[in-house]
Amino acid sequence: MPKILVTRRIPQPALDLLQTAFDEVVLHPHDRNISKAEILAQIPDCDALLCMLTNPVDREVLDAGVRLKVVSNYAVGYNNIDVDYATQKHIAVCNTPGVLTETTADLTWSLIMAACRRLVEGDKMMREQRFPGWEPMLLLGVDIYGKTLGIIGLGRIGEAVARRAAGFNMRILYYEVTGPRSDLTIIAEYVDLPTLFTEADIITLHTPLTTQTHHLIDESAFALMKPSAVVVNTARGPIIDETALVKALRERRIFAAGLDVYEHEPALAPGLADLPNVVLAPHIGSASIETRTRMALLAAQNAIAVIRGETPPASVNRY
Ligand code: GLV
Ligand code: GLV
Repeated sequence: MPKILVTRRIPQPALDLLQTAFDEVVLHPHDRNISKAEILAQIPDCDALLCMLTNPVDREVLDAGVRLKVVSNYAVGYNNIDVDYATQKHIAVCNTPGVLTETTADLTWSLIMAACRRLVEGDKMMREQRFPGWEPMLLLGVDIYGKTLGIIGLGRIGEAVARRAAGFNMRILYYEVTGPRSDLTIIAEYVDLPTLFTEADIITLHTPLTTQTHHLIDESAFALMKPSAVVVNTARGPIIDETALVKALRERRIFAAGLDVYEHEPALAPGLADLPNVVLAPHIGSASIETRTRMALLAAQNAIAVIRGETPPASVNRY
């Protein structure tokens, strides 16, 4: 009699699909982030867990899940899950790659354009009725067309961001923790990190958060960047040392930043929200109606496949 815990309401088609495969689908009844204590209370008689990136699935949760066969994350990133420990316990860990690639690339470009052209500062000026009328020096930004784009992490999302750059006639540099890629379908030049920091006009992050990428962008990285550089992060907050970012933005070491993710989400580093030269989005990279439905269905399919002893469409471990 398989049972699944779904930690937060997700699009209905996925809940309907789960109903066809599980005897019991327990949906966390409150529309807020479930607490760890609430997960621990429910998990012992669950065969599957469908969780959010805001739910830490650590040793304690995995140990309490004595019947658990699958942890299906409603996200592509899975740094919230102790994958090594799950693997030791023969628990499958699944995610939602592919379906959110283009949507996240779109949001990345929204941040690039908003940060480069000071769109949010302008919007605020209009609403506060501070628009003085056209002025020759009003809200001058930096160009995107013809510039150099530096992509850190050229996976599916990084590549989708690069494809969009073709319309902007950009030179593309990339860095990958695992080294150059041999199967690229776009024209991009592999460089080391210091070269990317030094030469890129726009730097965008698309690498998973691991011990290797934690604080990859720190004070020494900002020191190498151009004063006209724009840094965009739609990956994971802790890849940037957010305190160092506040300092770099405040001292105008770089021109601007666009963020969708934060080091201590949902909190912001002190001073960040006071800066005019940063655009702040509330972790909405994959948040389109179509994509969230696709992610929910994939997360449900992953859980169902594991429970049926089939190969899930997207697992991240050999369990
Ligand atoms: C969102 O951040 C995701 O990893 O899907
Ligand atoms: C994950 O990294 C993705 O690009 O979907």
